[in-house]
Amino acid sequence: MAKEQGVNRGMITAIGAVSSNNMLGLAGWLPWDIPEELAYFEKTVAGAALLIGRLTYESMDVVPEPSFIVSRQLDLVLRPGCTRVDSVEQGLSKALETGKPVFVIGGASVYAAAWPYCHQFLLTRIEQSFAGDTLFPESIPLAEWRLVNEDRETYLEKKTGQHVVCRFLQYEQISPLALPAAP
Ligand SMILES: NC(=O)c1ccc[n+]([C@@H]2O[C@H](COP(=O)([O-])OP(=O)(O)OC[C@H]3O[C@@H](n4cnc5c(N)ncnc54)[C@H](OP(=O)(O)O)[C@@H]3O)[C@@H](O)[C@H]2O)c1
Repeated sequence: MAKEQGVNRGMITAIGAVSSNNMLGLAGWLPWDIPEELAYFEKTVAGAALLIGRLTYESMDVVPEPSFIVSRQLDLVLRPGCTRVDSVEQGLSKALETGKPVFVIGGASVYAAAWPYCHQFLLTRIEQSFAGDTLFPESIPLAEWRLVNEDRETYLEKKTGQHVVCRFLQYEQISPLALPAAP
């Protein structure tokens, strides 16, 4: 299992997993079935405040509290412990106000809007190609971030029955953008 990464209060961390052909999602869920990778995600975000896109939120069986769901639907009804926010910026501000570490857990559209504010990105690179319909946003300039840690594990991917290498990468953004002041 990958090591726990240091995450502090006031820190905004994005976390996700991507295949070698840059896929993030398939039919509203993940393109792969790797229980250990999912367990790493769940353990890492436990006790944090989460920022989640509406589609990703709807795909989750269990949504930890507190979670901030980005949606433009004013009448969206959410599960207990979840709060609708109009924008990624509003969601990050409210998540920070909880005093907990903040994690941006996707999907693609939320990563694309939130990355400028993130101090780090915990990205699992799955060293295999998968069919999918949602790509990791090309606009996120991770190649320019500092790679501060890498762990590597091999797990059984249950859909294909193949073993896959998972690289658990920790990237740091040197100068994240400050959130705009609340209106
Ligand atoms: N591999 C991974 O680590 C990972 C992580 C998370 C998700 N995923 C996968 O990614 C896919 C979903 O990604 P997605 O990009 O299609 O959807 P998403 O980001 O989860 O949700 C998109 C929705 O969020 C709201 N939204 C997004 N940006 C907004 C903004 N700037 N302001 C206001 N509302 C905003 C909109 O909701 P309304 O339509 O309600 O306005 C939009 O339709 C799924 O397949 C999921 O399983 C993969």
